[in-house]
Amino acid sequence: MQHLTQIQQLRDTLATYRRQGQRIALVPTMGNLHAGHIHLVETARSHADIVVSTIFVNPMQFGKNEDLDSYPRTLEQDKAKLIAANCDVLFTPTANEIYPTGHENNTVVSVPQVSTRYCGASRPGHFDGVSTVVCKLFNIVQPDTAVFGLKDYQQFLVISKMVADLCLPVTLVGVPTQRDGSGLALSSRNSYLSEKQKHDAVALIETLRWAASDLLARKPAHAIEEEAKRRLSSAGFTPDYFAICHARTLEPAQQNDVDLVILAAAYLGKTRLIDNITLQLPPA
Ligand code: PAF
Repeated sequence: MQHLTQIQQLRDTLATYRRQGQRIALVPTMGNLHAGHIHLVETARSHADIVVSTIFVNPMQFGKNEDLDSYPRTLEQDKAKLIAANCDVLFTPTANEIYPTGHENNTVVSVPQVSTRYCGASRPGHFDGVSTVVCKLFNIVQPDTAVFGLKDYQQFLVISKMVADLCLPVTLVGVPTQRDGSGLALSSRNSYLSEKQKHDAVALIETLRWAASDLLARKPAHAIEEEAKRRLSSAGFTPDYFAICHARTLEPAQQNDVDLVILAAAYLGKTRLIDNITLQLPPA
């Protein structure tokens, strides 16, 4: 695996592959890789000849009181995992390489509508940071395909809208959430959890599954959302949001909507966890 840190080196390397007619897939990450990320790399491999992974803890997508400084950075372990997964190129730029004039002074790519609610409302500026850095990575790597995990469901819709609105020539692939044996969604932030918290965290997916089954039983969405937040609180979470939405627009679900996603975010101690379930209701 080639490990590069500068944009020009990466461009030169990828230009050679492209001239040989090789297809390139990109897996953007913030590192602290787990089995979910490795599954993204494997998926990327099935779509392209050359797999490029990036590790960049993007300062632009963290709020002032968030965990930018404490975000787990485990480069040596990450490299070993990527080599084992047959990744071809690893790109780990510095913040200065990506934002030479500072991220506060960078042009902002801001995606309207799908970015405004839920994580967008709870973490102001977060999605501007995500769409801006992902747009830059797309311009640097110029991948044929880019692969993202669907645990960050809203993020995937934000990036999809950016790609459509800006006519970016890349095909996006969303990969279903990987879970541990208990059902907990794999996330780099799980490393903040104590053993007891990991045990308690299962209530998030259990509550989502309960909500999905009540929706299938045609219970009213608003009552389900309220009861779900009550269940999360009694399991030790501080709920941020629990929302039943249209799966593509993320507008609150209406009576006749059949393609739905249930999005949830909740704090366990200081750790903010997110998860979701998509479901299709049979037409009434
Ligand atoms: O999902 C992530 O890890 C990040 O938001 C991403 C897409 C790598 C952008 O920094």
